[in-house]
Amino acid sequence: MVNVAVLVSGGGTNLQAILDAQARGEIPNGRICAVISSREDAYALERAKQAQVPAMIMRRKDYESVQAYSDALESLLKDLDVQLVVLAGFMTVLAKSFCETFENRIINVHPALIPSFCGNGYYGLHVHEAALAKGVKVSGATVHFVNAITDGGPIISQKAVEVCEGDTPEILQKRIMEQAEWKLLPKAVSDFCDGKLTVVDGIVHHIEQNN
Ligand code: GAR
Repeated sequence: MVNVAVLVSGGGTNLQAILDAQARGEIPNGRICAVISSREDAYALERAKQAQVPAMIMRRKDYESVQAYSDALESLLKDLDVQLVVLAGFMTVLAKSFCETFENRIINVHPALIPSFCGNGYYGLHVHEAALAKGVKVSGATVHFVNAITDGGPIISQKAVEVCEGDTPEILQKRIMEQAEWKLLPKAVSDFCDGKLTVVDGIVHHIEQNN
């Protein structure tokens, strides 16, 4: 069983998608063992409670630097024997050392088709504002491993979603969540726990295992 920790900062709909997939038996080789929130008012904490998953709060402002925060998080995850870290709307930057310790064991969901609308400053609704300002006709979501470059790690999966006339950032965000994020993220978690994802020279390969 792979111990999975989900890191959150907000509403936690992606966390919910993972919890629902687990409840349906779709992550047979993984166990959500902890939810860690960078904000004490994140609704994601309520979702963890409902699912009876231990939830913790680690606020960035309680630490003097990104490094101190990342070190504390790293030691907590090691104490919990976590093998997979999922960033599900986690809005706090993590240190390079953290990314290296958990190399190819941190999965993030980004609400655009990387390499479009990604990198520093592109998070949450800002991503959809930028996509609409550019007038793209297709956007989507990307699930990827995390490295020290923001949104720059190996891509696990992507799904395109149509942009419609009259979309607001909120409408586009919801469509991308429903059609892409909530499907791709639980599947990536499940595939990781099944040992189906390998990274060679920065490229993710999906290995189908025959019994
Ligand atoms: C999601 O759209 C996720 O892709 C995005 O924040 C939202 C969190 O929603 N993440 C980023 O922008 C990371 N760069 P949720 O809390 O309901 O899952």
